[in-house]
Amino acid sequence: MCGIVGYTGTLQAAPILLDGLRRLEYRGYDSAGVAVHDGERIERVKAGGTVAGLAEKTANGAALHGVCGIAHTRWATHGAPTDTNAHPHLSEHGLFAVVHNGIIENYALLRAELQGEGYVFRSETDTEVVAHLLEKYYDGDFKRTVMRTAARLEGSYVLGVLCSEAPGRLFCVKEAGPLLLGLGVGENYFASDVTALVSHTKNVIYMDDGELAELTPEKITVFDRTGREITKTVSHVVWDIEAAEKGGYEHFMLKEIMEQPRAVKSTVDPRIRDGEIVFEDFDPSSEELAGINRLVITACGSAYHAGVVAKYVIEALCRVSVEVQLASELRYSDPIIDGHTLLIVVSQSGETADTIAAMRECMARGARSLAIVNVVGSTIARLADHVIYTHAGPEIAVATTKGYTTQLAALYLFAVWYAKRLGRIDSARYNELVEGIRALPGMVQRAIDLNVHVRYLAERWHGHKSLFFIGRNIDYAAAMEGSLKLKEISYIHSEAYAAGELKHGTIALIDEQRLVVALCCQEQLFEKMVSNIQEVKARGAKVLGVSLEGDRRIFAEADDVLFVPRGERLFAALPELIPLQLFAYYIARENGCAIDKPRNLAKSVTVE
Ligand code: F6R
Repeated sequence: MCGIVGYTGTLQAAPILLDGLRRLEYRGYDSAGVAVHDGERIERVKAGGTVAGLAEKTANGAALHGVCGIAHTRWATHGAPTDTNAHPHLSEHGLFAVVHNGIIENYALLRAELQGEGYVFRSETDTEVVAHLLEKYYDGDFKRTVMRTAARLEGSYVLGVLCSEAPGRLFCVKEAGPLLLGLGVGENYFASDVTALVSHTKNVIYMDDGELAELTPEKITVFDRTGREITKTVSHVVWDIEAAEKGGYEHFMLKEIMEQPRAVKSTVDPRIRDGEIVFEDFDPSSEELAGINRLVITACGSAYHAGVVAKYVIEALCRVSVEVQLASELRYSDPIIDGHTLLIVVSQSGETADTIAAMRECMARGARSLAIVNVVGSTIARLADHVIYTHAGPEIAVATTKGYTTQLAALYLFAVWYAKRLGRIDSARYNELVEGIRALPGMVQRAIDLNVHVRYLAERWHGHKSLFFIGRNIDYAAAMEGSLKLKEISYIHSEAYAAGELKHGTIALIDEQRLVVALCCQEQLFEKMVSNIQEVKARGAKVLGVSLEGDRRIFAEADDVLFVPRGERLFAALPELIPLQLFAYYIARENGCAIDKPRNLAKSVTVE
């Protein structure tokens, strides 16, 4: 959940590291710090709060001199977000500085051992044990010291290490967390995420678990767990820095909402050739498919909500039963999985710890796996048997928007492709569905255009303290995501409910204080939704209807209306989310919330 970055080269390191931290700040933003080797010793500055605070404290990096350094932006796990707990942590005599992303599970034991040997701890973090272990094991050989230290650690740890006796040299270690290396000319980098590197280099190496790397300005050398040098493939990043900047929008979230027509097009277009769905990166053999008799989808948060939508769509088209499981539950559920299960793993970042653990658990029981992932080269993408990349581009706002809608687009492609392979739809229906998918980018744009009034609705409704999002069938699945969007960025309590279930208890909460967002885009269930709307109105609630474009019936029922363009019924959740994302955004803006970095959250949840 933290972001780390390292640089060694010929330029002043601190400004480069601060720039990297700004781009990684979405990964954690409660405190930050930087350490630079000034040629003789390690200088370090830390600050509670955002990277802007650290930049102010260091005159934008100018106060720190040196051409090699490491930096960190934190999302606290052990110890409050204070200056003292911020990284980098120094060893007892300042010989080593270390930054860490992850959780060291055996830190209490190590801390007791080190304290027993006289080491003095200054912070409450798990990371400080690493700094002291480095000094304890130091025998003049930097690499051996890092390896001996890493061998003592249990849990998840991505480390960046600086040694005062090794100017210009950096080590980094990866175990269960994202880390990549950036290759420059006369300079080299490591970072948690490619966004911190693309303004410097597009040539990167994705590290695997158990590997460590040594960086000097001239060279990067990667080693396996035993210290043996290994050869890694250099990958080329295809997008550039503009993709990771705000481009004139007030927030990344609004920019990413507006980017969705293009993002969905990038998911869909390369996969439809001459009217056929073709996956260049997913082409299972007929035998492999014939062996599958069960589909399980696993994910967390919004990605899980995409899975819930997909269950409705896949079951409707393929007539195969689909189970959707929260990864944090699946991993501990002793799941009934075997070699006949196709596990679909959905993740924007490809680094979510619970999702990775659930995937490992199921694959160990024989499941074949298909990952639907945005970040190229991420852990989930590399673990999976097959991958469909969503190609959404970098998503910086903590609340996902284009990450989610492109997951839906990829899942729709899979559903239609699979229905055809199973022979469950005829060619006329197949063609109709392919056209339905092809139309999605245009529908997303239309959904943006149709709802310009949403900001005025937000002015009207932003004072409500509690909302319900209700719907039936696919609208219920969409309600889950609409509700999460609102609560995570506006801090307003909101719940998604299956409209027909309200009367079994929860309707007791409905009164004049409640705003109910009623999703009515499944035509076949419209009348049922009208009954539910009337039930809540009879108890004093206000209703915001979400309805298909041109459906005038909703005006008789709702206080205000958001519109969704008409298209294939099964794919309605995708355009339907656009007004809900905009609604959440403008409500949070009205309420003055930190939209791109909501409190207590971080973009990539790489801890359990
Ligand atoms: C909500 C949100 C989270 C993520 C979840 C899974 O806006 O972004 O709920 O969807 O943490 O993340 P990924 O998709 O990276 O596995």
